[in-house]
Amino acid sequence: SAVPVITVDGPSGVGKGTVSRGLAEKLGWHRLDSGALYRILALAAVDAGVSLRDTDAVAALAPKLDIRFTGDHEDNEAIWVDGRNLRDRVRAEATGGLASQIAAAPAVRAALLQRQKDFRVAPGLIGDGRDMGTVVFPDAALKLFLTASAEERARRRLRQLSAAGQSAILEDLSTEISTRDERDRTRSVAPLVPASDAILIDTTFLSPTQVAERIDDLLKDRG
Ligand code: C5P
Repeated sequence: SAVPVITVDGPSGVGKGTVSRGLAEKLGWHRLDSGALYRILALAAVDAGVSLRDTDAVAALAPKLDIRFTGDHEDNEAIWVDGRNLRDRVRAEATGGLASQIAAAPAVRAALLQRQKDFRVAPGLIGDGRDMGTVVFPDAALKLFLTASAEERARRRLRQLSAAGQSAILEDLSTEISTRDERDRTRSVAPLVPASDAILIDTTFLSPTQVAERIDDLLKDRG
């Protein structure tokens, strides 16, 4: 039977990275950070001098990129694109905004679809993104959809950026995150919505440990 998948979807700054890394480590499964693929493609377009509005040209860059992820923690993570570690540029908040601009284009989503499915390798995969449960892995065994208030997500993103040595202003982050979420939620292709069979977890008042415990309970219930 098919390699099992657990999907972790939700808006920016909600803690999907922490949850999906924790699950991948606990289960010994692979992880797909699908947002990083959109971020990498946006940077590749910028570097190639391709306008982000020319979405067909942006999509055409996707098959040519050699992408490798190494390191399983935020601290030792490296993101190799054509042999160069672009981790800091990929993680910058501004890159998230560029990614969400190209992510609204059907041609771009189509160009990245098979690439994402290719991460489905035994013994299992944790898929982290916006449309993991709705579009990329609709047959996932367990679908999680994380939410948190916009204020809390901006605070989490600020902590994450400062831990990575990047500075940011809370109000600016808050605005950037809301703009990005609005664009992700209202686009016509693969919008940010929970799959009909997703389990919603509001993490606003939960610590990362409490979120992990709740998911552990779900896993036990399902054997
Ligand atoms: O998750 P992350 O912040 O890295 O994603 C960056 C952007 O990429 C999102 O704001 C969204 O527009 C896009 N994205 C997407 N579908 C995914 C993952 C990310 O459209 N599965």
